[in-house]
Amino acid sequence: ITAGPTREPIDPVRYISNHSSGKQGYAIAEAAVKLGAQVTLVSGPVALPIPPCVGMTPVTTAREMLAAVESALPADIAIFTAAVADWRVAKVADEKLKKTSDGTPPSLSFAENPDILKAVATLKKGRPKLVVGFAAETEMVIDHAKVKLAKKGCDLIVANDVSPDSGVFGGDANTVHLVSATGVENWPKLSKSEVATRLMNTLAGMV
Ligand code: C5P
Repeated sequence: ITAGPTREPIDPVRYISNHSSGKQGYAIAEAAVKLGAQVTLVSGPVALPIPPCVGMTPVTTAREMLAAVESALPADIAIFTAAVADWRVAKVADEKLKKTSDGTPPSLSFAENPDILKAVATLKKGRPKLVVGFAAETEMVIDHAKVKLAKKGCDLIVANDVSPDSGVFGGDANTVHLVSATGVENWPKLSKSEVATRLMNTLAGMV
């Protein structure tokens, strides 16, 4: 299970990152343990206690997260809830980037981060039986999730509306839609912990 944001570069003064509390991923790890699963949680930096009985690998960058996920395999189920930064700064500055005297903003070049979900979902050997991705969308949630399902090659996308008035970011509730090749399941607004329990029960019935 991946959770939390990942950012580049390592130990920076300034960095590029995505926003994520990690709450949904941590709740899933906890629910999986309660169902008797052996869980490895690969997590970016978050302010949450580690759920009991979870093997935890802390990471800071997307590339570290990919390596940690690969070494956590084989697994029956892989769940990717992390808000991975799609891009990293191509060259990490040796010193803090200072303001220029004429106020010109610095120009940064970016390199693409690995897509961890896609890498695992498209493994030729040792692919987990179930690969689950998340999709945080601000509009056309289901349509975008269907496109993501095909693009990533995963079995299921858990899609949620994170538009500013949804209160999902950092909050304790979530309204999700399960999008798979067989159709769409719309769940009511639930706590992140209820989403986690219900999701793990659903997944356990699928493997
Ligand atoms: O492409 P997008 O970021 O919207 O896809 C979301 C899903 O892909 C999530 O499950 C996320 O954890 C995963 N992801 C990933 N590696 C990336 C980007 C996203 O595993 N570089």
